[in-house]
Amino acid sequence: MTTSPITQQIPHLIPITPRPEFAFVRGQGHELFDDQGRRYLDLIQGWAVNTLGHSPAVIQQALADQAGQLINPGPAFYNQPMLELATTLCQHSHFDQAFFANSGAEANEGAIKLARKWGQKYKQGAFKVITFNDSFHGRTLATMSATGKSAFEPLFEPKVSGFTKVPFNDLAATEQAIDSHTVAIMLEPIQGEAGVIPASTEFIQGLEQLCHQHNLLLIVDEVQTGVGRTGSLFAYQQYGISPHMMTLGKGLGGGVPISALLIDKAISCFDYGDQGGTFNGNPLMCAVANAVLAEVLKPGFLTQVKHTSHALSSGLSKLASRHGLSNVRGKGLLLALNTGNHKAPALVEQARDAGLLLNAPRPDTLRFMPALTLGQDEIDEALNILNNILEGAA
Ligand SMILES: Cc1ncc(COP(=O)(O)O)c(C=O)c1O
Repeated sequence: MTTSPITQQIPHLIPITPRPEFAFVRGQGHELFDDQGRRYLDLIQGWAVNTLGHSPAVIQQALADQAGQLINPGPAFYNQPMLELATTLCQHSHFDQAFFANSGAEANEGAIKLARKWGQKYKQGAFKVITFNDSFHGRTLATMSATGKSAFEPLFEPKVSGFTKVPFNDLAATEQAIDSHTVAIMLEPIQGEAGVIPASTEFIQGLEQLCHQHNLLLIVDEVQTGVGRTGSLFAYQQYGISPHMMTLGKGLGGGVPISALLIDKAISCFDYGDQGGTFNGNPLMCAVANAVLAEVLKPGFLTQVKHTSHALSSGLSKLASRHGLSNVRGKGLLLALNTGNHKAPALVEQARDAGLLLNAPRPDTLRFMPALTLGQDEIDEALNILNNILEGAA
């Protein structure tokens, strides 16, 4: 392999994760191109972020139009894209109010703060939030503390206190964990970083009931599952529940940094100064999110996501039975495959060398989170590459 000209620049970045030694220079739709001219079929898409693929025309247009109009008047003023985005999100969910931020972690931090504020005002200072083993809610100190990843446990002590972790999909354990200080239950409808583990309908509906019984707030973290990813606009809508809060990130901006906290107005209780941020609700990012939502809300878009999901999952199931793998799981275009005896990170590297970008959230799991516009040609190409790798690895 030729050495990339970026090799000398790499030491100027703080190392935070292992990265292959090339830089991506161009992306179009489902394809990425690196600085060596190699082409990759991308089923990672910025970690389930590029809802419409790389550099779609509608995002280019929204950025150019908004950049020429108004980039950032500051968070203490209304702007039109911000108002339009809040209105669209509320009209297409059961929530009433939105707060915009820049990352999923920041939106979750806002949800945790609002729950604590509500506990202070209306529940005798209750502050504890129940979260779940193997969950992932972000990398700020509070959201790492909320996260149920065991690898986070020894890090950055002392953590933010007040999070009680219980096994996922275990209603009895959740009920047992509730005490007089509990204010909220927070979960991902599908645990993404844990390896694509869906909450069962009984579990999530049971949590809603527990919240009614014990006067708790139900928070759904839809940073990974929101904005069409699971085949409905929001995953909670498939469970027939009405949570008090929802957080969005990733796919909302189709590749640009924007996230949202959506709430039921009955629990809205921030006082001025409690919550904010310099870039929050800036028109440039909100205009992009409006453009993404306009596409996702077009008639037929989400139906097509369900068809594509079926095509990809049945292709993966066939591949799994041919190679003795198991357990294709997930919803919509957030799918995973158990790799059995094969080490998933090694498969990811082999796939990358063969021009296919995949992700392994666990040592035995491959995750598929393509753009929602994925077509049959890309599915065939990806399955073909994976099949060749698995044959070689057999
Ligand atoms: C469910 C969930 N919540 C929160 C986050 C954190 O989002 P961000 O990386 O934008 O802070 C992620 C990121 O993977 C996520 O999957």
